[in-house]
Amino acid sequence: MRGQVKALVLSGGKGTRLRPLTYTGAKQLVPIANKPILFYVLENIINLGIKDIGIIIAPETGEAVKQAVGNGNKWGVNIEYILQPEPAGLAHAVKTARPFLKNNPFLMYLGDNLIGTNLRKFYQKFLEKNPDAQILLKPVTDPSRFGVAEINKKGQVLRLVEKPKHPPSNLALVGIYMFSPKIHEAIAEIRPSWRGELEITDAIQQLLDWDCPVLSDILEEWWLDTGKKDDLLKANTIVLDEWIKRDVQGKAINTTISGRVVLPASARVVNSQIRGPVVIGENVQVENSFVGPFTSVGHGAKIINSSLEHCVLLDGVEIINIERLEDALVGRNSRVVKNSALPKALKLMIGDDSVVEIP
Ligand code: TTP
Repeated sequence: MRGQVKALVLSGGKGTRLRPLTYTGAKQLVPIANKPILFYVLENIINLGIKDIGIIIAPETGEAVKQAVGNGNKWGVNIEYILQPEPAGLAHAVKTARPFLKNNPFLMYLGDNLIGTNLRKFYQKFLEKNPDAQILLKPVTDPSRFGVAEINKKGQVLRLVEKPKHPPSNLALVGIYMFSPKIHEAIAEIRPSWRGELEITDAIQQLLDWDCPVLSDILEEWWLDTGKKDDLLKANTIVLDEWIKRDVQGKAINTTISGRVVLPASARVVNSQIRGPVVIGENVQVENSFVGPFTSVGHGAKIINSSLEHCVLLDGVEIINIERLEDALVGRNSRVVKNSALPKALKLMIGDDSVVEIP
């Protein structure tokens, strides 16, 4: 292997599909089970023993990412930030990171991708076989939304296409790649796609055209691209289901807590029922309420006289007098309140691109 392997995490982009949350924050910092998605990504990289990590950031959200992650000291690694002035594509992000990557091989990881496994096998294979690119593929039902690979019976990659109208297979490219420095030569050759972006799939296709070795693996475990609300709720469900252990420390008065529930010492629950899997944040207050399965409650939230399940509430949210809240993703410091003094009237103050569904 030529030089130490580095990692490049892509945490820029626009996040248009997750508006309005992404007007005020980076989508990679949206929490799943109360932990930012980006932290799952970083932990997966650090577990491989990679010490040098570059994070691509956007001008709008870069400061928030820096603040949340820091310089890597707490994990014993070095983290550098690389500003990409515009989200001009994944291959453009690699180009922007060239001074950091130098001629080292690297792992590229999209900061909003979550997978249900560590990367040890995938990484080991790269170190042993030394290909110019290695990709992870996952069968999906709607391949037109993704980069798609055509492979032969031996698993060799024949062709890659980005968001094809007529997909050659159902194998989508997961947002995790390994590259040798040859990828920079390939990126220098490609032109922006019809959507105006420098596509990493086109750069890998260029490697294939040059007969460079490109290896692939099928990911057996789950993969979630958390770019949209429903994907995010699904990710929250899976992470709560698979990774959460019961840890009840907070005050629970006249309350039933069943199953795998995380309740920190600073939280307080009165006259309520909590049925796991559920994660409750610091300083949360729950009163006369039911918090049902697959719910994450952000720090400082308040749930009073309400019933909810399968929800993600970010920090500082208030849910008051709501009979039933389901499949909801509620942004920071938002209040959802039923006011019986307002018969038949709905009183709202909601951000741009919000969705309110009423029975
Ligand atoms: P995408 O989800 O493809 O793009 P996006 O973040 O702009 O979202 P949307 O489609 O909702 O507008 O990006 C995948 C990941 O890569 C995501 O974590 C953002 C990051 N990214 C960059 O860092 N730079 C880029 O130029 C692009 C396109 C994405």
